[in-house]
Amino acid sequence: MEHQSIKNIFTEKPLEKSVLIKGWLRTARHSKGLSFLEVNDGSCFSGLQVIADAKLENYEQEVTKLLTGSAVSVKGTVVESPGKGQSIEIQAAEIEVVGQAPADYPLQKKRHSFEFLRTIAHLRPRTNTIGAIFRVRNAASKAIHGFFQEKGFFYLHTPIITASDCEGAGEMFRVSCLDAKNPPLTKEGKVDYTKDFFGREAYLTVSGQLEAEIAAMALSNVYTFGPTFRAENSNTSRHLAEFWMVEPEMAFCDINGDMDLAEEFLKYVFKSCLKDCPDDFEFFNSRIDNTILETMAHIIEAPFERISYTDAVDILVKSGQKFEFPVTWGCDLQSEHERFLTELHFKKPVMVTDYPKTIKAFYMYLNDDDKTVRGLDVLVPKVGEIIGGAQREHRLDVLQKRFIECNLNEKDYWWYTDLRRYGSVPHAGFGLGFERIIQFMSGVGNIREAIPFPRVPGYADF
Ligand code: 4AD
Ligand code: MG
Repeated sequence: MEHQSIKNIFTEKPLEKSVLIKGWLRTARHSKGLSFLEVNDGSCFSGLQVIADAKLENYEQEVTKLLTGSAVSVKGTVVESPGKGQSIEIQAAEIEVVGQAPADYPLQKKRHSFEFLRTIAHLRPRTNTIGAIFRVRNAASKAIHGFFQEKGFFYLHTPIITASDCEGAGEMFRVSCLDAKNPPLTKEGKVDYTKDFFGREAYLTVSGQLEAEIAAMALSNVYTFGPTFRAENSNTSRHLAEFWMVEPEMAFCDINGDMDLAEEFLKYVFKSCLKDCPDDFEFFNSRIDNTILETMAHIIEAPFERISYTDAVDILVKSGQKFEFPVTWGCDLQSEHERFLTELHFKKPVMVTDYPKTIKAFYMYLNDDDKTVRGLDVLVPKVGEIIGGAQREHRLDVLQKRFIECNLNEKDYWWYTDLRRYGSVPHAGFGLGFERIIQFMSGVGNIREAIPFPRVPGYADF
């Protein structure tokens, strides 16, 4: 007999039929010739209750000794459950102990802090929260590909090792095979990277955007979905050193088309995840943040707010709120400002555009005022910035001026500049922080719970 997933059994409810399941014990209670085992195989949120009694030949010897965390294989009959909390259960006919877990199994039935669970990242997928987050990550990935594939976007694989700093912020991890203790030196006494693996300096990518722009200039609509890396030393609840980013790029598109896509995209992903993982969301809503279902329903329904940076600053200045970082035109919006706008002022996602050019990257389209660029940030309650994007500067002369203003060497971006020489067209795109959307949907306070193995300053275990 082949074993079935517990999800399958809950969906099909094969009453009075014999089934085989395999999984790990969330709990094991043994009393007077009767045992109650909760088996979870991760296929869905709930575990299935298994009732075992002394009729099993290994009952005294093995079953009564089973502890939380053990792996079992159970053959039995599906019956309606008299107990509350579950609709069906299994009356065991055979239980095989596949892998014992002794009494020191770290995940005993009690609430563990997320901080503690991070130290056992090899076991935390077996907890309710992290298991649910893994499933929602999967559902969101599927939704992302579904959305773009339905719209005819091509999935593009951009390089992970690169020589160009997309954001121009110098937050890249170096990739080098040189002997750190004794590197080859130039005449000037600097490290000689021409002797390194790639014959030049190389880094881990911070964004696939620049390469996505190349592809958009040929295939029109593309998207990337891959890992990105930032060596920024921010030890916050919203930053990771390694995170996944979704980056669509569209040719013949301006900032308005970019906003339309971002809004449609987020709504699609939320809707699709809610449909695929209802039990996981019930759990998030009841145990992590009781506003999640309501907030997501509202986001799916209501149109997003669209305002300029200048108007956003105006609202913040006039709000009378005391912010830790006071707001003036020209400053970057801090998380407290973003949260004020989405949580208190508009009470919905806000798309902010036309930022001062001094606080944004070189590639953003310069407005006629020569002061602002067509950048786009999408802000959501609690998490703040979830998407960052822009209409790109497609005019050769303006781009060349921007390189100078941003202290960048045009030569390093020769191919990017070339695209502006040969059939340049207006184009736009954005990057969605995948873990930020997972953090948002699950309600966890720290982004380190939104990725299986977080990498942050001072930590890269597992
Ligand atoms: O705003 P960012 O830096 O934009 C870009 O990288 C553009 N090149 C994207 C594009 O236009 N194709 O990053 C995009 C998003 C942010 O809005 C945020 O959600 C997420 O990536 N992000 C991070 N997520 C986790 N940890 C970090 N350190 C992050 N930095 C950015
Ligand atoms: Mg940004």
